[in-house]
Amino acid sequence: MVNTETKTAISIKGLEKVYPDGFRALHPTHLDIRSGEIFALLGPNGAGKTTLINAVCGIVNVTAGDIEVYGNNITTQYRKARSCIGLVPQELTTDAFETVWNTVSFSRGLFGKPANAGFIETTLKRLSLWDKKDQQIRMLSGGMKRRVMIAKALSHEPQILFLDEPTAGVDVELRKSMWDQVHELRSMGVTIILTTHYIEEAEEMADRVGVINKGELMLVEDKKTLMKKLGKKELVFDLHQPLTDEHEELTAMKVHSAADGLQLIYTYDTLKENNGVADVLDCLNRLHIRYRDLSTRQTSLEEIFVSLVNKK
Ligand SMILES: Nc1ncnc2c1ncn2[C@@H]1O[C@H](COP(=O)(O)OP(=O)(O)OP(=O)(O)O)[C@@H](O)[C@H]1O
Ligand SMILES: [Mg+2]
Repeated sequence: MVNTETKTAISIKGLEKVYPDGFRALHPTHLDIRSGEIFALLGPNGAGKTTLINAVCGIVNVTAGDIEVYGNNITTQYRKARSCIGLVPQELTTDAFETVWNTVSFSRGLFGKPANAGFIETTLKRLSLWDKKDQQIRMLSGGMKRRVMIAKALSHEPQILFLDEPTAGVDVELRKSMWDQVHELRSMGVTIILTTHYIEEAEEMADRVGVINKGELMLVEDKKTLMKKLGKKELVFDLHQPLTDEHEELTAMKVHSAADGLQLIYTYDTLKENNGVADVLDCLNRLHIRYRDLSTRQTSLEEIFVSLVNKK
């Protein structure tokens, strides 16, 4: 299914978007999406995620810049570029009175692909929609409708799948099963770009993460590197008795108290070889500070994200 000749699935150079009313939704943006990766675009409401996706899909006219999809220019080679892409838009739009089977089959035809009942069947089964194939869309639940949109987007066997907020309004269980399905698609070689507000989702799924805010792509990073680089760990001591005195030694080690003196918290860099944990333990011993419990906590992508957005 996938074109392995080129390692870049999508190349975006100097993309800018100013809407007709003068609103600048995207500042000059450069981004390469690698073939076969899951890329999560993370950002608050109005950040420009949908604008970016729609620009690549040719739904939004770009103000400036060049976009290529597997080497095909999105403007001058539109049909070729677009045929590589499946899009599940943020707003679900389907013919409510059409059946699941017809909707998905029809969509394949729109891309000029010959009918292939076997492929449609496999796709519907993979998305757990097989038993609903003869139902009208209006009779499905919200989560099922979203899966129909995914089936529709996959109907012409695209190498790239855009999921614009795939799990908005989807319950936890279904969200998890959606994540599994996305992983499965990736294992088949499909490149996936998804947008989400849920940091947990990016953390769970993405190979790389892009953070966008106010039309500016602030950061693109390998997820693991990002979490390592910016991730801190906290060691939390729950004390037997509140600590009333200030201990210079603790202050010097950057151990601070919280919860009205009932907790001591030591924040350390997970990358450093000597993280200081042993010294802190020694120090507490020396000072005869007794604790009844201790725990560690890793900064989540969420905290990293919030601190990034606030910094700007
Ligand atoms: N057709 C339009 N005309 C003018 N401004 C628009 C238009 N479409 C979007 N915008 C503006 O561009 C900005 C980015 O919108 P966009 O839909 O790309 O954000 P988003 O990151 O997808 O947000 P959300 O998370 O809410 O879906 C917003 O401020 C929005 O109001
Ligand atoms: Mg959006």
